[in-house]
Formats: sequence, C-alpha cells, structure tokens
Amino acid sequence: MNGVGENAPAGSRVRVAVVFGGRSSEHEISCSTAAGVLAAIDRSRFDVVPVGITKEGAFTLQPDDASRFRMDAAAMPVVPDNGTRVLWPDSAASRTLRVVGADGVVRELGEVDLAFPILHGPWGEDGTIQGLFELVGLPYVGSGVLASSVGMDKHFTKVVLQAAGVPVAPWVTLTAAQWDADPARWEAAARGLGLPVFVKPARAGSSVGVSKVKDWASLPAALAKAWAEDEKALVEAAVVGREVECGVLSGRAGGPTRVSLPGEIVMRTREFYDYEAKYLDGDAAELVCPTVLEPGELRELQRLAARVFDSLGCRGLARVDVFFTGTDFVVNEINTMPGFTPISMFPKCWEASGIAYRDLITELIELALEPSPVG
Ligand SMILES: Nc1ncnc2c1ncn2[C@@H]1O[C@H](COP(=O)(O)OP(=O)(O)OP(=O)(O)O)[C@@H](O)[C@H]1O
Ligand SMILES: [Mg+2]
Repeated sequence: MNGVGENAPAGSRVRVAVVFGGRSSEHEISCSTAAGVLAAIDRSRFDVVPVGITKEGAFTLQPDDASRFRMDAAAMPVVPDNGTRVLWPDSAASRTLRVVGADGVVRELGEVDLAFPILHGPWGEDGTIQGLFELVGLPYVGSGVLASSVGMDKHFTKVVLQAAGVPVAPWVTLTAAQWDADPARWEAAARGLGLPVFVKPARAGSSVGVSKVKDWASLPAALAKAWAEDEKALVEAAVVGREVECGVLSGRAGGPTRVSLPGEIVMRTREFYDYEAKYLDGDAAELVCPTVLEPGELRELQRLAARVFDSLGCRGLARVDVFFTGTDFVVNEINTMPGFTPISMFPKCWEASGIAYRDLITELIELALEPSPVG
C-alpha cells in the first residue's frame, strides 16, 4: 500500500519502548502479541526497549527475546518479576528512561522516541496508560485517553455510537446495587429485549464474563458472572447473523481513515465466540479473511467501520466488530488495541489488504510520530 515507510527519515533510527503484559486478565494475550512484534519489527530501522508490566503492575525491563513470550499449549507466557523497575521520564521535557536494577543501582536506558503499548483490557486499552504517556510527554501508538476509555466501556461506546447514528443492539446497563434495589423492574427491562440475550461486563475483554442467556431463570447468575469483572453489566438483545470485523487505520497526514477488507469469525463447534473459542479450542472457530460480501455490502461495512472510528475520535488503529444479519449491519464493539499476533484478525485483515505484518508495525509507529492534528 502506498505511504508505508514514507515518513521514515532515511538513516535515523527510532527507539521504541514496547510495553506489554499488564494487570488485566489479558496479560498472557498481550505477552504473545509482544512475541509477535519483537520477532517482526523492522530491526533495520527500530531499536526496541522491551518493558514488561507484571500482573501486579510493576514496570520491568525484559530481554529483547520473542521466544520468552510466545504462547504455546503447555504454558501461557507471563512477564516475570525480575526485580528491575523501569522509570519513565521525570519531566515532559525529557524522553530518557532509567531502570533500577535488581541490585538497586539506577542505570540510564537512554532516550526513546515513543511508546508502543500492546496492552489489552483495563489499565492498558482504557486510557490509563495513555494518560501516563501524556503526562510524561511521550508519543505513543494508538488512541488517546478519551477514545481509549470510551472504547473500553461497552456502555459508553454504544451511547456515543447511537448519538452518531450508528446501529447498535438494544441494551440495558445495570449495576448490582441497582438490581438489588428493584430486581422486578430490571428483569422487566431485560425481558423487553426478548430471548436470547447476551450478558456482559461493560469493561472486560476476551469474552471473560460473557454469557448467552436463553431463559430468564439464568439471568441472575449471568449478571453475577459479569459483575465479577466490572460493577456495570450490559444485557443486550442477541443479533442473529454473521460476525464480521474490519481493521481500521488513521489516515496519513490528515487523510481519510483507512479500512481493511473484512474478516469473519465462523463458529464451528461452540455457540458463540467465548474465551475457549478465542484461545483454547483451536477447532471452535475459524478466522476467515478476507470474507465474502457483495460489493455494495462491503462498501457499507467499510463506511460504517470508518464512522465508528471517527465518531469515537480514535487514532492509530482499531478493530471494529460488526454483526451482519444479511440485510443490516449492527455494530458490536470496537477494540482500540486489537489482538495483534501474526495470526490475529487485525493483522490478517491488513495482510489481505496489502500491508504485511512488519509494515503494519512500521505504519503504526510512523502514525504515532506524525504531528498531532490538534497540536
Ligand atoms: N448482542 C449479541 N448478539 C450476538 N452475539 C453476541 C452479542 N454480544 C456478544 N455476542 C457474542 O459474544 C462474543 C463476545 O462478546 P463481545 O464481543 O461483546 O465481548 P468481548 O469479546 O469480551 O470484548 P472484547 O472484544 O473487548 O474482548 C461475540 O464475539 C459474539 O460471538
Ligand atoms: Mg469481542
């Protein structure tokens, strides 16, 4: 695709802090994405400082070694606490990182040009770490604080999309306290959606805490499962249709938002795209990319995906997930830091659209280094 690599000042190397792991339930997925990025990033142009966040939230300096963080069936990768602590720049005027060694000695790590947070879920995809980078004045890959935060929250995503005229499934949002105060009222509201419904935490990911409810007697247990992940749960009307997804990238130099060819999640054995289907049961679902749509449908889907990205004020990248009923597109959600291993949907969709994995990483870094349109 035109434009990839264009921004690269010839000869100047760019130093990237690749930040991965993190406190969310998607820690392991993030590690496996890091393995993909460390293995593929263009070493002729980029130097990498690998910053692993442990599950407890410690910023550690990790070896630049993809093989340590690969997912395999026997063991899920994690960021080990090796006793080091990475210190971010101590002022917005500095880009110098330092590290406290396990022996307590502080060492300079030199300047970095930007951070590449490949973190999923809370404390990574939700605007919090983006806020940290804003505070210390470090450019970073991906959406800013507000878009990350809204995109992480399925309730507020739907509120914003609805206001932008984007079709979303009807839903009810409720907390445990609201339910306890008046269960009859909330059950009536849920029943108004009709069976089946999907119950999900507002801010989680990887289908953790998501249930399909086929009889109203199962609703309280499904809500409890969702509230275990977040105080807010959504009860959502089920949409019957295909699950299609597009990769989205910001335009270059203020140009229009770019949308990839769509992929599709084809369920083989499980009822919906739950955690097992995503990560544990390789036969449960197939990621097909590109998938087949009529030309008019394809245009409509791509227009819709760009509208979702733009109306949420996203930057850099996102994956937009949509149900297609055969006649209508209904937006399910946006992921502002989608799965990014070489076999994940987002890179596969861009590969099918002419941007190889390595070039996609380069593109994301270059987009992050473009001057911000709002200054
Ligand atoms: N309203 C719905 N109608 C039909 N299927 C649904 C609906 N909501 C969720 N699903 C199914 O459940 C899966 C997981 O739900 P959802 O995408 O909302 O959460 P998530 O994947 O955990 O979030 P994230 O993508 O942020 O990790 C979907 O991929 C889809 O298979
Ligand atoms: Mg999803």
